[in-house]
Amino acid sequence: MNLIFMGPPGAGKGTQAERIVETLNVPHISTGDAFRAAMKEGTALGIQAKSFVDQGLLVPDEITVGIVKERLEQPDCTKGFLLDGFPRTVVQADALGSILNEMNRSIDVVLDLAVDRDRLLARLTGRRICKSCGATFHLIFNPTKVEGKCDKCSGDLYQRADDHEEKVGTRLDEYISKTAPLLAYYSERELVKSVNGEQAIDAVTEEIMNTLRGTNQ
Ligand code: AP5
Ligand code: MG
Ligand code: ZN
Repeated sequence: MNLIFMGPPGAGKGTQAERIVETLNVPHISTGDAFRAAMKEGTALGIQAKSFVDQGLLVPDEITVGIVKERLEQPDCTKGFLLDGFPRTVVQADALGSILNEMNRSIDVVLDLAVDRDRLLARLTGRRICKSCGATFHLIFNPTKVEGKCDKCSGDLYQRADDHEEKVGTRLDEYISKTAPLLAYYSERELVKSVNGEQAIDAVTEEIMNTLRGTNQ
């Protein structure tokens, strides 16, 4: 299955993707994770991306499309993929269409995780991420068993630079002006399924799995 997760910052794309890929057995491709990994390693890509990511601005399309194209060409993507946080502009969506066309493949479903704007701030400012394995937690909504330590690997937790309150507004504005129009873009292609992302984490996972089962039939 070739899947796209859409939704505003903090909607739960990463949290749900981590769970869903275990069931679907497809790679989880997050452009945000790819940029953060490159930033941590200090590669040329990381240095280019950092000024945009830390400010909450979208990284330019040509950089972003390049890394996704390379990733989709890896052999593990032949069984399907879950794109999290890509595409985020119409230019990226068009580019993705061309890349998949060349590979004789197409998108099966665009899953939109719908969450009201006023809930997102609390989700983002309370988020904590494992430095070692990248797992996502929340101080209140998904706390770790031991404070400050990852449940999966005991790694230390950190807060993303763009999760500070003053950056969250920029990210939401970027989403509304550049990414939200993709819902109409993919609706015209009859690919969008909306899921209520305001439920508890387990309930959202269940709704996603039910929706995907319905799509598969
Ligand atoms: P990216 O990393 O993709 O960030 P984002 O889209 O802003 O989304 P988030 O990761 O913040 O939210 P999420 O939906 O994954 O939520 P999560 O599951 O963590 O991108 C970062 C940056 O990289 C961008 O700003 C941009 O600079 C750049 N970039 C990336 N892709 C790009 C592209 N295509 N083009 C250009 N630039 C790009 O959940 C959030 C929190 O809420 C967690 O703490 C979680 O535990 C909690 N939570 C989750 N679900 C629930 C629930 N149901 N109830 C209660 N709490 C919940
Ligand atoms: Mg994420
Ligand atoms: Zn960990």
